[in-house]
Amino acid sequence: MIEVHRVSKVFSVGPVKVPALREVSFRVSKGEFVVLSGASGAGKTTLLRLLYRDDLPSEGDIEVLGHDLVPMRRSQVAPLRRSIGVVFQDAKLLPIRTVYENVAFVLRVLGAPRREITARVFDALRVVGLSSRAQAYPAQLSQGEAQRAALARAIVRRPPLLLADEPTGNLDDAMAAEIIDVLKDIGAGGTTIVLATHQARLARALHRRMITLDGGRVVKDEG
Ligand SMILES: Nc1ncnc2c1ncn2[C@@H]1O[C@H](COP(=O)(O)OP(=O)(O)OP(=O)(O)O)[C@@H](O)[C@H]1O
Ligand SMILES: [Mg+2]
Repeated sequence: MIEVHRVSKVFSVGPVKVPALREVSFRVSKGEFVVLSGASGAGKTTLLRLLYRDDLPSEGDIEVLGHDLVPMRRSQVAPLRRSIGVVFQDAKLLPIRTVYENVAFVLRVLGAPRREITARVFDALRVVGLSSRAQAYPAQLSQGEAQRAALARAIVRRPPLLLADEPTGNLDDAMAAEIIDVLKDIGAGGTTIVLATHQARLARALHRRMITLDGGRVVKDEG
């Protein structure tokens, strides 16, 4: 599903070279739920961005869903991204659209038939426990609900892989726990999940495989 082999990433900031990842290697199997932990600046976001080909490594190889990402042609990037759901700390919902329309948006862009869109959107909203809020606008939602809407949007195409970057970062403990439960449900449905968080307590409480980054290196991979 994911194979990362000796990946390094160096950012150039003017004359300064910032090493963000150093010789990172790991594999993730289909259906696994992996927590990517580490302090702020450890390299978690950089690594996730490499996995959906938002950026390229400076060195090393990455294979995701059977695609070799480094030599990948630009025309293959869109099909890869269609197979990967992504959620961020900020839900990034379109403010002038309802929850339903936010989740439906990508299916509409892809030209899915109307009945299929309705069925898939309500299916995704049910998974995240937001069916009753379909007609609400983002401003009417709590942060936890907004994040659940973002999760519904990420899974509506039923991607085999879901990448989540600090999805609970803006939430209080109770709402964070809700989001984690939803992620566990999505994982139980067979979706492979990589969840990045700097919240060490939350990461441990998940009882899932945990890959820990420190200064861009994998310092622990267990569970
Ligand atoms: N686009 C960029 N340009 C320059 N440096 C960057 C860039 N992106 C990340 N970095 C640097 O790379 C290192 C790793 O950053 P990254 O954002 O991956 O950490 P993180 O583990 O996600 O941290 P956080 O928990 O704060 O989100 C940091 O030193 C950061 O400043
Ligand atoms: Mg980050």
